[in-house]
Amino acid sequence: MALVLDIEKIILTLVLIWCILICFEATGIHAQPGYPPKEEINALRDIAKELRKTDWNFTHNPCDNSTYWVTPKRSEMPLYNNTVYCNCNYNGGECHVTDIILKGQDLAGVLPPSLVKLPYLRNIDLFRNYLSGTIHPEWASTKLEYLSVGGNRLSGPIPKYLGNITTLIYMSLESNMFNGTVPAELGKLFNLVNLSGFLIFKF
Ligand SMILES: *[C@@H]1O[C@H](CO)[C@@H](O)[C@H](O)[C@H]1NC(C)=O
Ligand SMILES: *[C@@H]1O[C@H](CO)[C@@H](O)[C@H](O)[C@H]1NC(C)=O
Ligand SMILES: *[C@@H]1O[C@H](CO)[C@@H](O)[C@H](O)[C@H]1NC(C)=O
Ligand SMILES: *[C@@H]1O[C@H](CO)[C@@H](O)[C@H](O)[C@H]1NC(C)=O
Ligand SMILES: *[C@@H]1O[C@H](CO)[C@@H](O)[C@H](O)[C@H]1NC(C)=O
Ligand SMILES: *[C@@H]1O[C@H](CO)[C@@H](O)[C@H](O)[C@H]1NC(C)=O
Repeated sequence: MALVLDIEKIILTLVLIWCILICFEATGIHAQPGYPPKEEINALRDIAKELRKTDWNFTHNPCDNSTYWVTPKRSEMPLYNNTVYCNCNYNGGECHVTDIILKGQDLAGVLPPSLVKLPYLRNIDLFRNYLSGTIHPEWASTKLEYLSVGGNRLSGPIPKYLGNITTLIYMSLESNMFNGTVPAELGKLFNLVNLSGFLIFKF
């Protein structure tokens, strides 16, 4: 009998410990002040793999504006830009990744479908790399305002679903290997003022 009670006690204690762990995990849904949520850090890891970017240092907070995430200007490399910005003005100082600028870095992967896992991203600038493939349908559901993928090795038709990113203000696709015509669906981009550096006349 005593043994049975002991087992019950042990089980109760285990359940209690498990519950405490779960409760802490639940409060962990909100990131610490100054940090992005864990999901966004994992998204950055996925994006790095897709782009084949190897020098993001995940032992440092991507939102700390340190030189690990925001490389200062190099006069000998005027085009090079290696920047991740966050907005940390959310509830309780929580951060969200808003800008990824990776210009002139010789990245040889593909455009990252995982971009869609950064719901607060507004600016993606991958100008002048060696990225191949095309723009993924996943991007259609982003809220991007600035999209620059010019100067890469993208190919195939210019996707119609780019017309779904109605938040776009600026889009640069030039100097790639896209073929075919500019799809009529891009006419849905009513906020767009600048396509590949050409001003769009709005009526
Ligand atoms: C990343 O940061 C850690 C801690 O500052 C440092 O020890 C490490 O060398 C860095 N890694 C790279 C690849 O820069
Ligand atoms: C990093 O810079 C951004 C804007 O430039 C700012 O909103 C944010 O608070 C800064 N983060 C830290 C940790 O200083
Ligand atoms: C990189 O681009 C961002 C956004 O346009 C800009 O704020 C920053 O000054 C640039 N950094 C360098 C090193 O040119
Ligand atoms: C783009 O929007 C249209 C119309 O709302 C929808 O039918 C289509 O599935 C969307 N495309 C993508 C790739 O999300
Ligand atoms: C575009 O290029 C692909 C091969 O990359 C080819 O199959 C397709 O027919 C081309 N389309 C046009 C409109 O030229
Ligand atoms: C459009 O883009 C070009 C090249 O990036 C730039 O020089 C010009 O100022 C932009 N115009 C507007 C209205 O943003």
